[in-house]
Amino acid sequence: MLVVYFDTVDAFVRTSRYNRKGKVGLFIEKLNYIKNCYKKMMEIKDKYELKFEKAIILENDMLELKNMNDNQEKFDACITSPPYYFSIDYVGKDKISYDYLGKDMKKIESKYLGMKNNGHLKGNYNELPTGVAMYYEDLKESIKNIYWALKPGGKLAIIVGDSTVNGKKIPTTITTKKFCEETGFKFEKLIFNPLLGARNRAIRGDSVIICKKPARE
Ligand SMILES: C[S@@+](CC[C@H](N)C(=O)[O-])C[C@H]1O[C@@H](n2cnc3c(N)ncnc32)[C@H](O)[C@@H]1O
Repeated sequence: MLVVYFDTVDAFVRTSRYNRKGKVGLFIEKLNYIKNCYKKMMEIKDKYELKFEKAIILENDMLELKNMNDNQEKFDACITSPPYYFSIDYVGKDKISYDYLGKDMKKIESKYLGMKNNGHLKGNYNELPTGVAMYYEDLKESIKNIYWALKPGGKLAIIVGDSTVNGKKIPTTITTKKFCEETGFKFEKLIFNPLLGARNRAIRGDSVIICKKPARE
């Protein structure tokens, strides 16, 4: 309920698009969306006879994963959705949640992908703005860390989307696929999900890229 509430409050702070629905109307819409996701998840659970285990939540920085030694070749799969590249107010969207949890937003923001390197770039990113190149450096580093943490034969599903900044398309999908292959992953498939009604937005949709870490010979 809190997550839906935070999401509703944030939607109103950011855009007047929802005024017509009213806060209660939007809250109910978002709640129904979550209920529907839950229902779909349970259908998948039944269909594939999945057994759910209790989750463990570890709070950490993806770029520091290798400092947690016992994570090497530990995981069967990784499902991840790294941040999109935007030019403004990266974490502002979650401010209300961070405030509720008593977290220092500035500290968290400084660890966000793309915020760390202070303009020091290892790779060559041609015409891309420095901010985007820094984001790509961190994205590549996190893909390398995922590779390190997966068992041989392990799978990666990574959700990414292309954004448009100052009229320029930031080609994150194709770049992520390239990073996965350069890291050693075998590309398996790409599933594109268009965002309905997104014609005028910075993001048109997102893609799930599925890759496999080769099994040991
Ligand atoms: C597109 S959101 C994904 C949200 C998630 N899939 C969900 O449904 O809540 C990107 C997430 O990446 C996290 N993130 C950004 N930089 C990170 C880092 N260096 N280490 C770990 N997580 C990071 C952000 O906190 C944010 O929640």
